[in-house]
Amino acid sequence: MSTGGLIALDLTVAIAAAAAWLGAGVAAAAGRTRPVPVLFAAALLVTFVRIGTVVTLAGSGWWFVQEKVTVALPLLVAATIAAVALAGPRLGAPRSPAAVVSLFTAAYAAAAGIIVTLLVGYPAGPGEALAAFAFVGAAASATWWAAAPLAAAGGRARRASQRLGLGGTGAGALGLAGIALALLPAGAVDAGGGPTGAAAAPPDHHARPATSTGPDAAGTPVTALRGPAAPAPGGGVRRYTLTARATTVTLASGRRIAAWTFNGRLPGPPITATQGDLVEVTLRNADIESGVTLHWHGYDVPAGEDGAPGLTQDAVAPGGRFVYRFLADRPGTYWYHTHEASAVGVRMGLYGSLVVAPRPTGRAGPTRPARPAGLDLTLPVHTYGGDTVFGDPSRAPGSRRVAPGTPVRLRLINTDSVPRRLALAGTPYRVVAADGTDLSRPDRLTGVALGLPAGGRYDLVFDMPAGPVALLAGDDRAGALRLLPDGAALDGAAPAAAAVPRTGGWRELDLTRYGRPAATPFTGRGRFDRRFTLVLDRGLALSGGLPRYAYTVNGRAFPRVRTELVRAGDLVLMTVVNRGFATHPWHLHGHRVLILSKNGRAPTGSPLWLDTFDVRPGDVWRVAFRAGNPGLWMNHCHNLGHAAQGMALHLAYEGITTPYDGGHGG
Ligand code: C2O
Ligand code: CU
Repeated sequence: MSTGGLIALDLTVAIAAAAAWLGAGVAAAAGRTRPVPVLFAAALLVTFVRIGTVVTLAGSGWWFVQEKVTVALPLLVAATIAAVALAGPRLGAPRSPAAVVSLFTAAYAAAAGIIVTLLVGYPAGPGEALAAFAFVGAAASATWWAAAPLAAAGGRARRASQRLGLGGTGAGALGLAGIALALLPAGAVDAGGGPTGAAAAPPDHHARPATSTGPDAAGTPVTALRGPAAPAPGGGVRRYTLTARATTVTLASGRRIAAWTFNGRLPGPPITATQGDLVEVTLRNADIESGVTLHWHGYDVPAGEDGAPGLTQDAVAPGGRFVYRFLADRPGTYWYHTHEASAVGVRMGLYGSLVVAPRPTGRAGPTRPARPAGLDLTLPVHTYGGDTVFGDPSRAPGSRRVAPGTPVRLRLINTDSVPRRLALAGTPYRVVAADGTDLSRPDRLTGVALGLPAGGRYDLVFDMPAGPVALLAGDDRAGALRLLPDGAALDGAAPAAAAVPRTGGWRELDLTRYGRPAATPFTGRGRFDRRFTLVLDRGLALSGGLPRYAYTVNGRAFPRVRTELVRAGDLVLMTVVNRGFATHPWHLHGHRVLILSKNGRAPTGSPLWLDTFDVRPGDVWRVAFRAGNPGLWMNHCHNLGHAAQGMALHLAYEGITTPYDGGHGG
């Protein structure tokens, strides 16, 4: 069973244990002596099974069971022993207070374990443990108070219940102390086992993200880390102006939706360049009240150009502008999007593609963007009003005529917040690049679907065959994009769904076993200067000053997640663990990471350099990167709603400061 499955099974068993103990307690309290022994035996059995599921889950890693081993199981086992000792001999006695209370207490203990898992998760400290024990103690006392009159024991029982009531109050106070302890601020910086550095946040800045020590602190402000003013020798300048504006757009279906656009287009204008060019983009905001920035997703621009509001710049308010400049130094498929209130902004349409063509070899001097022979289509995949479309939502996907033999490249970009399953039918193809980086000797694929993480990109190539080709999102045959080898269909005509094959049963490509190995500048066996672990989950956490049921990293929500501190040149290991029930597409700004292993297995195919990788429930990913791009960087889940609800943190280079307040998760 997968770890994700085990997590779900363990939770189910935990709930069953609580239910069984509660059932036994209720039956005992009601004086129904017949079902009590049965429920008691069932509760015991499920409790043993629970111990088994926790032990099995521990095999996947300590992160998955820490709070279960240190809090939930000790509580459950102690309460079970008490129930066996106190209720065991009295199963036949109707309404025995000792039996009733001990059975209920076992139920409380089981429930407390579930609450700790769902609200606290990893890591649970002594404060949370104390709170859980106190909760069970208080509930047990209250039950004793209520159950004592069941037996007509008179004064003795009342005195006992009063004593226990006092005990319960004490336990409650202890619990509050525990909660307070749990909410105490932890250090703001995680040095990952490396030196903490002179620029680390002073202790009174515990709630501040990043090593943001303010404008007066010594160091380099992130705002000074800007792109060059001129292209590389031989390169040109690619100038764009993008104006963000709220509008309404008519979808291909005829429905009108509210949208936020760059230059009135959905998606925004494609930005293209050739290696060596300077890209200069002027962002203007006409009327997006919440503000806009441009983030160059996957493109490792200088930190001051990264578009992280509150960290590298202030969001551009209506009427304002910001000029971004960076060198197009790496070819490949990337994208841009707003980073201010991005969960809303990107969904509404504030995004577009960024494609950099390789510099044609052997050609010196100024170049125009290379026009590759053949068909080169950039296809952002986005969902508008429930329809997942390729490119422009106002036009039917339709069909295109392509002469057989034409080399075709499809650049797929998932601009949604959830993974997209994509299928190319009608031709064998290769995935030649992932997240902008070429894969090593990619195999030919036929009848294999692709799972594209939110924010991720795949470049597909094939030669146009003699028959039709269809690209599908999910199994949406009516919305397929079709390439036709002849003049049978008119451009723009809606394809007949019946003519598009079903791909729902296709297996999904495992990218970690695709292509052939190649040399990498470092491996998982080397020494790391810093090691960080990010455990992703949901839980009760302070976010925006209020306790929320947030998406958490190491039990905390942005901005209280500890900042990862590195030094330029460090080799950094990052372990990302998903304890929850949702997929988290993890995305680090400013760096691409090399995948070292997924669930303990190193990739057997091409090296994988990704900027966004899907950490599914139960997954453990080990990735590494060289800290070669000084700055302050967002490191977050690219399900942008999750990021907005806390699942984000900062990666800070020692000595870099920000004049801003640190920003917000989304
Ligand atoms: Cu594409 Cu911080 O995100
Ligand atoms: Cu997420």
